[in-house]
Amino acid sequence: MKDLLTKKEILKAPFLQEMTKTTANLYRLGWDERNGGNISYLLKEEEVAEYLDVNDVKRTVPMMFDGAELAGKYFIVTGSGKYFKNVIDDPAANLGIIRITEDGKSLDILWGLEEGGVPTSELPSHLMSHIERLKADPNHRVIMHCHATNLIGMTFTHSLDEVAFTKTLWQMCTECIVVFPEGIGIIPWMVPGTDSIGKATAEKMKEVRSVIWPHHGIFGAGTTMDETFGLIETAEKAAEVYTVVCAQGSVKQTITDQQLQDLADAFGVVPRQEVLNL
Ligand code: 13P
Ligand code: ZN
Repeated sequence: MKDLLTKKEILKAPFLQEMTKTTANLYRLGWDERNGGNISYLLKEEEVAEYLDVNDVKRTVPMMFDGAELAGKYFIVTGSGKYFKNVIDDPAANLGIIRITEDGKSLDILWGLEEGGVPTSELPSHLMSHIERLKADPNHRVIMHCHATNLIGMTFTHSLDEVAFTKTLWQMCTECIVVFPEGIGIIPWMVPGTDSIGKATAEKMKEVRSVIWPHHGIFGAGTTMDETFGLIETAEKAAEVYTVVCAQGSVKQTITDQQLQDLADAFGVVPRQEVLNL
C-alpha cells in the first residue's frame, strides 16, 4: 500500500503520453482506420517502476512464439482490435504495459488492456523485429505498423523490387535518402498476424528500419517514437508525391543519381548499394 502511494500517476508517464499522442496523429492522418495499426515501445524497468509495482501482475497471457530472447523486457503496446481513434480518451482500455516471462512463452500484463484485452495480433512481428533491431542498434526501442495510404497504393502500381522501390522514393523528396539511406525492405504478400510474416519482416529488419507489407501497410523501427514516426511519415510523403506525379503525367526531370550521391555525402550517410548507378 505504501509503495502504491509513492508511485507516480501512470497517465502522466511520458511514454504513455507519447503513445496516446502518436496513435491520435496516426488516426488523424488516415493511416489507422478502425483497428488498423499497432505500436510497441520498449521500456526500461526503472521507467516502469516509477509508476507501477512491477511485481503486481494483473494477468498472464500465453504467446504462440518463442520470446525467450526478450525475457524480462517491458513494452507498452496497443491492444488487438482497439481503435487508434479511441486511445487518447481511454488509454487503459486500449494500451497495455507487458513484460515477457522468463521462459519466453507468455507475457505478464502489468497495466491496461482492461476488460480482457490482449496485445496486438501483430505482436510476433513486433517482437521478432525488436530482437533484430536490438542486435543492429542497442538504442532501438520502437516498432510501429500503420496502413499508410500512398505507400499501400504504390504496392499496386510500382514494381515490388526493393531497389527500384527505394530509388523511386528517394527521387520523390530530397530528404528521403538522408532519412532512410539503407533503403526500404519489401516482403511478399502474406497473411498478417502470423509467425511467418513476423519472421519475414524481422529478416528484413536486420538491414533496414522500414518494411513494406504489400497491399497492407508498413512496419517502421526506431530509437524514439519521433524518429520512428518521422521515418514512416517521410516514406509516406514520398509515396504521396509519387501519386501526384503519376496523376500529373509524364516526368520531365528528376533528382539524378549523382545528386542523390551528393546529398548522401553532404549529410554523411551511406546509401544502400546497387540503388545508384554511378
Ligand atoms: P491489431 O488490432 O491486432 O493490432 O491488428 C491491426 C492490424 O493492423 C493488423 O495488421
Ligand atoms: Zn495492419
